[in-house]
Amino acid sequence: MEVIIRPNADAAADLVAQIIAQELRANPHIVLGLATGRTMETVYARLVEMHRCAENPLDFSLCRTFNLDEYVGLGPDDPCSYRYYMNHHLFSKVNIDRRNTHLPNGLAADLDAECQRYEDKIRQCNGIDLQLLGIGSAGHIGFNEPLSALRSRTRVKALSPVTLAQNAPLFPDPGKMPRRAITMGVGTILECRRCLVLATGSHKADIVAKAVEGPITAMISATALQLHPRCTVVVDEEAAAKLQGTDYYRWVFENEPEWEPFRTGRES
Ligand code: GLP
Repeated sequence: MEVIIRPNADAAADLVAQIIAQELRANPHIVLGLATGRTMETVYARLVEMHRCAENPLDFSLCRTFNLDEYVGLGPDDPCSYRYYMNHHLFSKVNIDRRNTHLPNGLAADLDAECQRYEDKIRQCNGIDLQLLGIGSAGHIGFNEPLSALRSRTRVKALSPVTLAQNAPLFPDPGKMPRRAITMGVGTILECRRCLVLATGSHKADIVAKAVEGPITAMISATALQLHPRCTVVVDEEAAAKLQGTDYYRWVFENEPEWEPFRTGRES
């Protein structure tokens, strides 16, 4: 795992967008794993900006995407669904082929069959190259709530009280928030070739410290990322506030050649 600390939330999101852009330019057929949540909105806004850049537009025409999760019971036209979120923040604003964008179908009649179909589809695409991840307040990745098995696959998960409280404000009628979601499993996520995590804000400081430096536990699915051979965690100063090893993390980012192109800020 590597931890990169940026001065503020915008700079952190900007770095994440730059890493995605670098990987997409290197491999236009890339299979991207995508995430939702408030934190990711700035990342998608930045990717849209890069796509619209006249001199060197970022091209999404050949890439394929798989989102981490979707609420059970919400369809693509529901503004609270993750399909709607993705269309709104990214897919409708870049030149991606909508047929290459995948999310679990929260309206499927047979949810177990839908989960299996989603796993099969990821496999048919030869797996996910780069998986973008946020961290929920209780330390979940996707909707892998406490006690999610570290080898779990895509499945239906009941949302924990912490998650219900975290996401209810995003619903016009919080009482109508679904209590279940389809989510990629921890095992599914760990099979991607590279993980890229973004967490910003002081409210994430405790959980970031547990996820990065704490013991691996099924109670906090983000800790499983410590098992991944290539996981980059990007945080702002506020989210980094409870980490112990920041001097070391900063030294690595400032000195390792891999990070040289990213030290100076924005790609145009
Ligand atoms: C939801 C998503 C997670 C995401 C989390 C963080 O629960 N299922 O994948 O990481 O939100 O949300 P936010 O960025 O709003 O803090």
